[in-house]
Amino acid sequence: MTAVVLDGKACAAEVEAEVSAQVAELAEAGVHPHLAVVIVGDDPASHIYVSGKERACARVGIRSTRIDLPADTDFSRVVSTVGELNANDDVHGILVQSPLPKGMDELAVTDLIDPAKDVDGFHPSNLGRIVQGRVDGMVPCTPAGIVHLLNWGGVELSGKRAVVIGRSRIVGTPVSLLLARKGVDSTVSVAHSRTADLAGLCRQADILVAAVARPRFVKGDWIKPGAVIVDAGSHPEKCGDVDLDEAAPRSSAYTPVPGGVGPMTISMLIQQTVRAAERTTGID
Ligand code: GUN
Repeated sequence: MTAVVLDGKACAAEVEAEVSAQVAELAEAGVHPHLAVVIVGDDPASHIYVSGKERACARVGIRSTRIDLPADTDFSRVVSTVGELNANDDVHGILVQSPLPKGMDELAVTDLIDPAKDVDGFHPSNLGRIVQGRVDGMVPCTPAGIVHLLNWGGVELSGKRAVVIGRSRIVGTPVSLLLARKGVDSTVSVAHSRTADLAGLCRQADILVAAVARPRFVKGDWIKPGAVIVDAGSHPEKCGDVDLDEAAPRSSAYTPVPGGVGPMTISMLIQQTVRAAERTTGID
């Protein structure tokens, strides 16, 4: 079987073109979308991701401001930084890059971000809307990007059995909710470190989403022939969470690493920054 490559770069380029047009339209109305990115510490991968986000903003005409704080920053300084960004009407979107340094309470920081500016969609009121089946708030970017890419690639989701490996608030949990949502209608299992017979469960999946943050964790013989593979991992070894050399030939379609889910995350971020600008300025 020849597997289709779900080309996240191509799909993201289409989203970028739409966002560029929206940014130009907003400029005519005097609104200039502005994203603030806070990064605490020197995690090398985070710095690479944040640079990618800044470059995407520049490509579509979104202003971005990066606030670099040292790893030994006091929690109170992070709190005051977020408070200032919340109060600044010139800033429409706020993103605090994860992970924060060890010992810093990420959930407490997330709680502080104005939900209307929470372009990551991690605030409890935005995540809560998804639990209610609503996607009219801010939706976490990687999960939104995965569903967008599957739809773009013509992957049938309704009635299909999806297995999501990973239950993080950034990817696993929200993507499982989005896939099970009314209108999308997959039947979703969420697997995690305590799941019994993970390989056996994966072999039942029509759609397999790997979001475990472990390189080449998913093996080729875990793939049901003809399944669709979504690899949300990204590792310095230039691989994802799936051993795609083994797994891709068994699939009907798969997301490559790099060039699959990664570009989609960024395209959803810029899309949501524009949405936040429209809403916080009352243009929407
Ligand atoms: N770290 C890894 N992915 C993400 C993301 O989508 N948003 C933020 N803020 N941090 C991340």
